[in-house]
Amino acid sequence: MNIKYKLGNTLHQISFCRKREKNNISKEIEKLRSDRNILLIYDDKINQNITKQVFEDLKLSGCKIFTLKSEGDKKNKNEKFLFKIIDLLIRRKFTKKSIIISLGGGVVGDVSALASSLYLRGLIYFNIPSTMTSIVDSCIGGKTAINYKGITNSVGTYYHPKNVFILEDIFQNIPNREFDAGIAEIIKCGVIDNEKILNFLKMNKEKIYKRDYKTVANLCKQTLQSKIKFFKTDVYENDKRLFLNFGHTFAHAIEMATEVNLKKDFIRHGEAVGLGMLAEIYYENRSKGKIFNLVKDLLKTYNLPIKLDFTKIKINKIKLLNDIYKNLFLDKKKIDKYPRYISIKKIGSPKVKEIKDFDFINDTILKVLF
Ligand SMILES: NC(=O)c1ccc[n+]([C@@H]2O[C@H](COP(=O)([O-])OP(=O)(O)OC[C@H]3O[C@@H](n4cnc5c(N)ncnc54)[C@H](O)[C@@H]3O)[C@@H](O)[C@H]2O)c1
Repeated sequence: MNIKYKLGNTLHQISFCRKREKNNISKEIEKLRSDRNILLIYDDKINQNITKQVFEDLKLSGCKIFTLKSEGDKKNKNEKFLFKIIDLLIRRKFTKKSIIISLGGGVVGDVSALASSLYLRGLIYFNIPSTMTSIVDSCIGGKTAINYKGITNSVGTYYHPKNVFILEDIFQNIPNREFDAGIAEIIKCGVIDNEKILNFLKMNKEKIYKRDYKTVANLCKQTLQSKIKFFKTDVYENDKRLFLNFGHTFAHAIEMATEVNLKKDFIRHGEAVGLGMLAEIYYENRSKGKIFNLVKDLLKTYNLPIKLDFTKIKINKIKLLNDIYKNLFLDKKKIDKYPRYISIKKIGSPKVKEIKDFDFINDTILKVLF
């Protein structure tokens, strides 16, 4: 099962690879005019059999393969990791026709893609996502980034993977928390674009829990197709791509506030997006209504938080409230002084609006997040 889409004159492909198909990646490499140098950047937490399986596939291409072991988690999404990759590319004399392949979640993917776009102004990049968030969201769309000076994704570029490979084995190996976190981005696409995705999540709960391949792959395919629709004609996010940020204005504010306060990875990106969606629906409607409850029920069904969990952390609530408030104003979508968010009054009809009612921000944080 493949999804193909064109950006300008370039064809991009997402391949869902079954276990029985052994050499998907090397076959695609053979189609390219590369200099036959590959750097495989892999997340060390992934089951080593999968890393080995990818390595064996790459060997079939006859290319020279270099590897770089790395780690996910927000704390590693930084300039140190970025320049470790770039230093290796220089040392190994990589050219513009060399290939970088990331095998990891959103962190390894975003940083590898950024290095791919910067080194010699761009070499060939493939992505093999290994968490649900990266499978349904970060593996496509071309946003690359590191977090810098405490600001989420403050340094980045747009650079698209030529190919994405979604491996059947990965689905079984994603830890529960990483699996559930990605469901939040699926709910997001359902709310902004396609109610069928929300119904699919409701109807197929058992099969999704059990990670039945056909069901989960089908769900991912629907979500990826929805995401492609939004960025394909608006890569640089001037118009409808902005809708994909539903939940993210509050999510990034929460992520930055908890990271600074806790100095550890308290909340996953997807978990923050779930909370952010609730906050943005509440802020827009000034109350909890039908859509709020629909999203809340789906988050609960898929074990996602519907409040910040203060049992897990010791934190000064007033400081956290102030930090979330302050961080909203670091919103990267803002064009004037007001942060922007995605308003949802009806499923499938998102709108971009500004947060102007400052008094209601605190009410939203207190009533929805705390
Ligand atoms: N570029 C985009 O469009 C985009 C979209 C959404 C999110 N993001 C970014 O993605 C990041 C979040 O992605 P994520 O949730 O995948 O985070 P992550 O990459 O940090 O992965 C989460 C954790 O799971 C581990 N892990 C990864 N794959 C595993 C596997 N198969 N088995 C066991 N452990 C595994 C990682 O080491 C890490 O500890 C954030 O930085 C976010 O900003 C980017």
